[in-house]
Amino acid sequence: MIPELSETEFELFRTLLQNKTGILLKTAKRQTLGRRLARRLEALGMSSYTAYYRMLKAGKGHEELRTLINHVTIDQTSFFRAGPQFEILARQVIPDVVEKNSGLKQIRIWSAGCSRGHEPYSLEMMMQETMRELVAWDVKFLATDIDSDSLKYAFRGKYTADEMAPVPEEYVPKYFKPLRHSGRRFHVVRDRLRKNILFRRLNLLEVPYPIKGPMDIILCRNVMIYFSRTQKQQIMGEFLRLLPVGGYLCLGASESLIGIDDRFALIGHAVYQKKSA
Ligand SMILES: C[S@@+](CC[C@H](N)C(=O)[O-])C[C@H]1O[C@@H](n2cnc3c(N)ncnc32)[C@H](O)[C@@H]1O
Repeated sequence: MIPELSETEFELFRTLLQNKTGILLKTAKRQTLGRRLARRLEALGMSSYTAYYRMLKAGKGHEELRTLINHVTIDQTSFFRAGPQFEILARQVIPDVVEKNSGLKQIRIWSAGCSRGHEPYSLEMMMQETMRELVAWDVKFLATDIDSDSLKYAFRGKYTADEMAPVPEEYVPKYFKPLRHSGRRFHVVRDRLRKNILFRRLNLLEVPYPIKGPMDIILCRNVMIYFSRTQKQQIMGEFLRLLPVGGYLCLGASESLIGIDDRFALIGHAVYQKKSA
């Protein structure tokens, strides 16, 4: 029987996870973390949190640390999350990018912290629906996350009926194939969406990123909420490097750049535009 996670042990894991992912777990999360750790201990046939901690800290604990991060990251997401932001993207941002890039006919978008794929797939559907001429363009998405399980889920693109609820009815047959599995109904993303997205594991706290850019739009929504001011500033430094002047950054509805970076101008609903280098 694995004992309850003590306060001291919680602090050890909390600091380790914060250093590695930027996520600072609230004290109230002690039991939740305890349950998740206990599951890992069971899977590994271990009975002590401290021994597990030591293993994570040792060089050979690298793979296990990834597994633990996958268990701890909060991956809440949904299709067309933050509707008003999608409206600004459809009405203002995408038309502006299309006009600016009409020579090259190329668009590059990065979904940083894409979780299980709902975010990049939603944006791609919206773009194909609102700007029909893009069929003939070179539009590519990079979708990254620290959680490799989420990335696998995103690549598979197999969604439950509940997950599909926010997808407009008329989009469903166009962009998804129905699938029955063990008596349950799913929808699987069609290749016409998936083929334009490159899914990769990337920890936003490990700067500089192995990405050359430039990007026309970066979405980093509901990811930085747990990060410190310094960490946010480092991430912004990388986003500024990858965005040209006039490029766009979308944050989560409750996030802002006030006091973090003044080289972005707010357009509305947490959509920012880079105004200077
Ligand atoms: C709440 S979800 C947001 C998903 C999506 N952007 C949205 O708004 O619906 C936060 C995501 O950030 C990822 N994440 C947390 N820390 C990260 C880090 N250091 N680097 C990259 N991704 C991270 C988590 O794995 C999770 O998938």
